[in-house]
Amino acid sequence: MRNPRAFLRPLAVGAPTPAAEIPFRPSRMIHFFDPSNEKMKAKVPDIAAKVDIILGNLEDAVKTDKKEAARQGLVEIAQATDFGQTQLWTRVNSLDSPWVLDDFITLVTEIGHKLDVIMVPKVEGAEDIHYVDRLLAQLEARAGLDRPILVHAILETAAGVANVEEIAAASPRMQGISLGPADLAASRRMKTTRVGGGHPGYLVRTDPVGEDLTEGRTTYQQDLWHYTIARMVDACTANDILPFYGPFGDIKDVVACEDQFRNAFLLGCVGAWSLHPVQIDIAKRVFSPTPEDVAHAKRVVEAMGDGSGAVMIDGKMEDDASCKQCLVMLDLAQALAE
Ligand code: GLV
Ligand code: MG
Repeated sequence: MRNPRAFLRPLAVGAPTPAAEIPFRPSRMIHFFDPSNEKMKAKVPDIAAKVDIILGNLEDAVKTDKKEAARQGLVEIAQATDFGQTQLWTRVNSLDSPWVLDDFITLVTEIGHKLDVIMVPKVEGAEDIHYVDRLLAQLEARAGLDRPILVHAILETAAGVANVEEIAAASPRMQGISLGPADLAASRRMKTTRVGGGHPGYLVRTDPVGEDLTEGRTTYQQDLWHYTIARMVDACTANDILPFYGPFGDIKDVVACEDQFRNAFLLGCVGAWSLHPVQIDIAKRVFSPTPEDVAHAKRVVEAMGDGSGAVMIDGKMEDDASCKQCLVMLDLAQALAE
């Protein structure tokens, strides 16, 4: 049986692994910035103090004629900034792009000692991770780095979803996987044009009350991403790496953003991307257990004593399994409080 606490650590399969030695670090939001944008660059030190992970994005959303400027901008900001406890990540260009080799060479050589994780987009199978693993090993050796840079894959093609288990298990460097709903929708030929979140057309409707099919019926919007998130969570957890929800593009709809993040949290994700400062606090709130959840979990764990048997609390049966559920909640709350 797996230790329910294990998912808290960014571990990978296979021992001994350097990734397995890295202790828990809060990872509730991966905050994206464009290092080719001088205004955003100037705000990085302030933003870095507020987030768990800050990510310099080199891929989509950076114009092709700004790719070199973004790479260079990230080098400058990484060299000039003390990130403290905040993790520094980057998203490199995709493995079939003309920029990615220079992304790896420049970043590992110049700022490899500061980079915690490299996010790799459009990963389709284990071979993509094996390629990145080898390349990183060569560049780290040449740069004389004394700790490995970890790898995070974005799940955003139909092939990637079909191969998610092998991707999660592909290397001890694997730190986690994020859902990329925008590219995934395009790859699957889904008919939503939104960046993440729901769609008003994807719904279920209650039965008709009488003969009139239009009367008294209610509709409920469904979560377009439920299947993929659940699959990703299983693949990650089975390999002791961390699952994340990705972007929510409708920045002004903070209510739907919070709903989407919460669905992902309840299904097992540890964090989500934030694309705008307004999403930072949403992620912080959603991906931390509430005081009510913590109080309930404490009651159950205390009442269960050695964790075996069954007790009744407020008319509900609690047993070994629900005690483990409560430990998941308590462990996360405690790790975030440290
Ligand atoms: C993220 O990269 C996405 O495609 O949703
Ligand atoms: Mg994408």
